[in-house]
Amino acid sequence: MKQQMKAALIRKYGQDQPEIITVPTPQLGDQDVLVKIHAASINPIDLKTKDGNLKMLLKYHLPLILGSDFAGTIEQVGAKVTRFKVGDQVYGRVQKNRIGTFAEWIAVSQADIARKPANLTFEQAAAIPLVGLTSYQALFDVMKIKRGDKLLIQAGSGGIGTIAIQLAKLAGAYVATTTSSQNAAFVEQLGG
Ligand SMILES: NC(=O)c1ccc[n+]([C@@H]2O[C@H](COP(=O)([O-])OP(=O)(O)OC[C@H]3O[C@@H](n4cnc5c(N)ncnc54)[C@H](OP(=O)(O)O)[C@@H]3O)[C@@H](O)[C@H]2O)c1
Repeated sequence: MKQQMKAALIRKYGQDQPEIITVPTPQLGDQDVLVKIHAASINPIDLKTKDGNLKMLLKYHLPLILGSDFAGTIEQVGAKVTRFKVGDQVYGRVQKNRIGTFAEWIAVSQADIARKPANLTFEQAAAIPLVGLTSYQALFDVMKIKRGDKLLIQAGSGGIGTIAIQLAKLAGAYVATTTSSQNAAFVEQLGG
């Protein structure tokens, strides 16, 4: 592990492009693992954060490294980490107050990661956490859907829609969705 790493950060809201500069590698807390990031995905929240559209809700100090989702390999574990070890391939979404996955390494709590499924590439795995968690929470924690329920999932071809349709179908729900005609065939095959 190097003391310094490359990261993409913004110095002010509304900045057109993030800058890639050298910053200190993150420090580990006792419950944290240090992950060498192999892939990070761009979520709409990254663009809204960059443009300052969320600054009433999320109080960040600038400069700010963007990025919530990632997949990578654990290179170091904190003193109280019990669930993971060096070398584990993991993916996850960092907490809102610890964003910064557009970088070479991220320090993340062991509570916020899971083992990467072996049948997914790092790029595929990095695309899942935020849309997956949002969809899962909406369907199961909030709506508590069950087999036979009838759902309308709007914008089925989007990031949330594609995951939510598949989770709802897996749970045995009947799903209707909306989409533009160019994405209709894509959305239909998500039903399985
Ligand atoms: N992405 C996340 O992790 C996340 C987390 C929390 C909340 N959300 C919220 O969930 C919603 C969907 O987010 P997303 O990330 O899935 O968005 P997205 O990937 O950008 O997908 C949006 C989809 O909406 C459809 N669409 C675009 N304009 C439309 C319009 N005027 N009327 C009807 N449909 C339209 C498009 O599909 P067609 O071209 O096929 O119509 C597009 O695929 C947003 O409100 C977002 O704020 C997202």
